[in-house]
Amino acid sequence: MKPLLNIEDISVNYGAIKALKNVSMSVNKGHIVSLIGANGAGKSTLLKAIVGLEPLIGGSITYGDITLATDNIRKSIRTENIAKLGISLVPEGRHVFTDMSVEENLDMGAFLVRDDALIKRKKEEMYDFFPILGERRRQKTRSLSGGEQQMMAIARALMSSPKLLLLDEPGLGLAPLIVQDIFEKIAYINKTENITVFLVEQNAKMALKASTEGYVMENGRIVLSGSSEKLLKSKEVQEAYLGA
Ligand SMILES: Nc1ncnc2c1ncn2[C@@H]1O[C@H](COP(=O)(O)OP(=O)(O)OP(=O)(O)O)[C@@H](O)[C@H]1O
Ligand SMILES: [Mg+2]
Repeated sequence: MKPLLNIEDISVNYGAIKALKNVSMSVNKGHIVSLIGANGAGKSTLLKAIVGLEPLIGGSITYGDITLATDNIRKSIRTENIAKLGISLVPEGRHVFTDMSVEENLDMGAFLVRDDALIKRKKEEMYDFFPILGERRRQKTRSLSGGEQQMMAIARALMSSPKLLLLDEPGLGLAPLIVQDIFEKIAYINKTENITVFLVEQNAKMALKASTEGYVMENGRIVLSGSSEKLLKSKEVQEAYLGA
């Protein structure tokens, strides 16, 4: 089966810094795939390259039959058109609009949806997934806890009914129980809505437990990959990421 997302031999530089070096990986439709790695490994850069925020100096990224990015910028898809293809990114640090209410944030996530009845239905669906957001729907987002803001950011990304959800460290700065709760929700959404998930995390244990396959990135390169179960048990992952 052809992967939904295929990244082939891509490289990204920031001036003299080689942030991604010949990275290849793929995400199959319907799967939850994780990418783990320490601070500065290049994880966010990879997500930015997928959504067209960082140009490639080599390689290609395809989404189904569509080429999202190549080293030829004119043949790459512009960031503002990525969402129309069904790709939704929850960026690192959430970037929710803290001056707006929960409801208004969700409306922002539906900016491409023209059907008001559908927007209303999607919001109710989000309040079912995340009841706390329903309770707080008229509250300013800044008054929410970190975990609630993360749920808000995920719900906002789901408002456009994406086929591929990209998550940049959803567990960052949150207590383990909250992370677990959020990852369970992600697994539920993956299963019930058939949304493919690419999960980037520093929290290797949580991410590998939540995913079927994983990749490990170090200094801009993929150094290990395989089934999450296998990675969880591997000596390299245990020593470097699980504190074993
Ligand atoms: N805009 C930028 N300009 C210059 N260097 C950058 C820029 N963004 C990232 N880098 C560098 O590129 C490398 C990869 O950064 P990236 O943010 O992709 O890492 P990361 O794996 O997401 O790390 P973290 O877990 O801390 O979020 C790092 O060395 C970083 O300092
Ligand atoms: Mg990052």
